[in-house]
Amino acid sequence: MPQEMIAEGFDKQILPRFKFKHRIAVTPVTEGDADMVFGEDGNRVFQIIGGAPVRLDIRTENPEAKTFLDWLRSAPGKAAIEGFKSGGAQVYTTEQAAVVIEKTETFDGDKETGSRLALVHCGRCHVVDERNRMGGIGSTPSFAALRGRENWSDLFRAFWAHNPHPSFTQVEDVTEPFDPNRALHVAPVEITMDEIEAITAFVATLKPKELGKPVQSN
Ligand code: HEC
Repeated sequence: MPQEMIAEGFDKQILPRFKFKHRIAVTPVTEGDADMVFGEDGNRVFQIIGGAPVRLDIRTENPEAKTFLDWLRSAPGKAAIEGFKSGGAQVYTTEQAAVVIEKTETFDGDKETGSRLALVHCGRCHVVDERNRMGGIGSTPSFAALRGRENWSDLFRAFWAHNPHPSFTQVEDVTEPFDPNRALHVAPVEITMDEIEAITAFVATLKPKELGKPVQSN
């Protein structure tokens, strides 16, 4: 056990409780060959609040070491760890700190170009923004509403693959040419991947439409 833990009295907090429960005595040492070592290696058991994880390295074949590890991870063990105070304050936590992965997307496309293209190509059916607020086709979601979807950027980058778009959309070097034997019922959208990236960058600037608070139920 690290010297500081013993100095704070952590050994007296956990070892008697473990002994009471399992009738196994553990003697703390700060150096020499130990059967189990609290430190940076081995099994994660708890964490210094606002600091590094503490691990238990088991260096013995003695199954009692595993019993100790299991106890540290059990509800009573965790309660003993969390209940330990130094200077009146809790020192360790057994809760794993949530790892927050910040996913920041970048939009390399040209927003101004995207703004123009969106109105021309998409504004026939979608309300793009205030410029064609009264336009669009009733049942077609507005760009602001689509922008409010969690996966909106995926939807926009791949809009051409989703109905109803494939029947009238051609993406240069991506989609197959229209079947010349089938009449198009709507004016085609002919677009490049760069232009789609531009539209996506423009949509990133739109304010997502509030989809309302979730319905409350009792
Ligand atoms: C001819 C009409 C029309 C045009 C033009 C059109 N859309 Fe759509 N779009 C629709 C309709 C209708 C839906 C709703 C489909 C549904 O909900 O099943 C839709 C849905 C979408 C969705 C949501 C897709 C999904 O999977 O939920 C996106 C994103 C989208 N359109 C982007 C675009 C973009 C970008 C353009 C212009 C480059 C465009 N659309 C042009 C009619 C159109």
